[in-house]
Amino acid sequence: MKMDGKTVLVTGSTDGVGRYVAARLAAAGAKVLIHGRDKARAETLAAEIKREGRGEAVFYQADLSSLAATRQLAEAVIAGNQRLDIFISNAGIGSRTLGAERRTSADGHELRFAVNYLSGFLLAYLLLPLLKASAPSRIVNVASLGQHPVDFDDVMITRGYSGSRAYAQSKLAQIMFTIDLAAELEGSGVTVNSLHPATYMNTTMVREGGITPISTVEQGGEAILHLAVGDDVAGKSGLFFNGMQQAQANPQAYDAAARRRLRALSLELTGLAAA
Ligand SMILES: NC(=O)c1ccc[n+]([C@@H]2O[C@H](COP(=O)([O-])OP(=O)(O)OC[C@H]3O[C@@H](n4cnc5c(N)ncnc54)[C@H](OP(=O)(O)O)[C@@H]3O)[C@@H](O)[C@H]2O)c1
Repeated sequence: MKMDGKTVLVTGSTDGVGRYVAARLAAAGAKVLIHGRDKARAETLAAEIKREGRGEAVFYQADLSSLAATRQLAEAVIAGNQRLDIFISNAGIGSRTLGAERRTSADGHELRFAVNYLSGFLLAYLLLPLLKASAPSRIVNVASLGQHPVDFDDVMITRGYSGSRAYAQSKLAQIMFTIDLAAELEGSGVTVNSLHPATYMNTTMVREGGITPISTVEQGGEAILHLAVGDDVAGKSGLFFNGMQQAQANPQAYDAAARRRLRALSLELTGLAAA
């Protein structure tokens, strides 16, 4: 992997699989835009990258449970960088993060939908001009095999809430968005794919859910890197991968009418519809 001269944004790279991916990309020579809320953990990673003496790390602190903060992150990335070759939308919260009860974002949206999906949707659109100007470029949406259809009568899950349903809905939404965005970006030189990195990696999200890990961050990280830089996926777009293999997502992902509804709702909720 040779990443000299390349700039990569990895959201949620202060911890877990994102941290692994950011460190690997920097070790290959990339300028890595590391992101998260936790400054202390970001500084540890930045120091590690500096010690390695290859690529560069710049920290962007932003809470993706706020659309305003998400917009500020995009603005800061655009203001501080001449190019963006890869955007890895990885930040996320698990099915049991912050407990079992339903929570909402700063904008009043169901929290998992907001952090895991809506913020990545907004970031992708705001960063598209920079990604297009840097083409060929790639977007990787880190989703999951845990997928639940979006109930358009109750997208914010005000009835029958469970953390795992909310998590799985947000992850399928990412996959549906990936398919639509790929179609929209055809011919632009920007590709977008989504994946399930690995099952129950040994990360904070899994441990705080009380789940015994069965995969390593290295396994999931290599699957993310495959979509980010792999030669065999160059030019491929709109696909879902389970680890290293192309796979089928939940049937709702292939329902064009459902995707249209989700897209219209997401444009409205993020304020992009009015732009
Ligand atoms: N672990 C698994 O087995 C597994 C399986 C399938 C898919 N995934 C997906 O892989 C991705 C990474 O998960 P992980 O297991 O590596 O999780 P993790 O170790 O818990 O790390 C999550 C990352 O997201 C950031 N983050 C969380 N909430 C945020 C917020 N409100 N604003 C900004 N950043 C936020 C965290 O940074 P701060 O704490 O610094 O904010 C951290 O860097 C997620 O999208 C997850 O759904 C994981």
